[in-house]
Amino acid sequence: MTILKTSVAKKVAMAISGLFLVLFLLLHLAINMSLIYPGKETFEASVEFMATNPFIQIMQPILALGFIFHIAMGIYLEWQNRGKRSIKYVKNKANVSSSWASRNMIWTGLFVLFFLAVHLYNYFIPFKTQANPDHYALVTGLFKDPVYTLLYIIAFVLLGIHLSHGFQSAFQSLGTPREKCHKFLVCCGNIFAFVVAIGFSAIAVYFYFN
Ligand code: HEM
Repeated sequence: MTILKTSVAKKVAMAISGLFLVLFLLLHLAINMSLIYPGKETFEASVEFMATNPFIQIMQPILALGFIFHIAMGIYLEWQNRGKRSIKYVKNKANVSSSWASRNMIWTGLFVLFFLAVHLYNYFIPFKTQANPDHYALVTGLFKDPVYTLLYIIAFVLLGIHLSHGFQSAFQSLGTPREKCHKFLVCCGNIFAFVVAIGFSAIAVYFYFN
């Protein structure tokens, strides 16, 4: 019983951290969209706001902790599930009834983590260390590199796949009634996943060609 309680608590914590990252993604997408429209001035103003607003300053370490928690817990839950799935027929049954996205959360997540490391190295470090960085030039310049742009697109398509399962799964973990909400949440999750994958990728493609 205690084990059941802790694993439910872990699932809920995973869901909260995942949905927290979903909010961050929405904000990030809105800021990135401003690279194209309205353009440079608005993007620079958003960056300035993110760098100086006290609320954002408080949220930044919380976001970093949310990421670390989600990744560590994701790896732990996968490791735990693999142990339980060692009986072969259970694995086969899962393969029939579950989606590719749900069975590969760890792999889509790990690729996103790899991309995150590349992103931090290429963008966040110069951003924080240069005296007067030209944020717009820094971001758009990265998209002139075909390898970076391809990696970027693959990462966001995989993140979309992660979210196509993760979004509805998080609400399920939080206890939304399956009969009433499942179809609606699956639909919202798919729309959100599509917006994230296409939205971020389209910005990269736009600056690669322009
Ligand atoms: C912005 C990035 C990310 C977002 C928005 C996100 C979002 C989510 C959401 C909403 C869930 C569903 C939680 C639930 O079922 O209750 C989830 C599950 C999961 N995430 Fe992520 N995630 C992100 C990055 C990552 C990364 C980098 C990893 C690396 C390991 C990862 C690994 C996992 C795993 C393994 C699960 C399934 C856990 C389980 O229920 O067994 N995620 N994610």
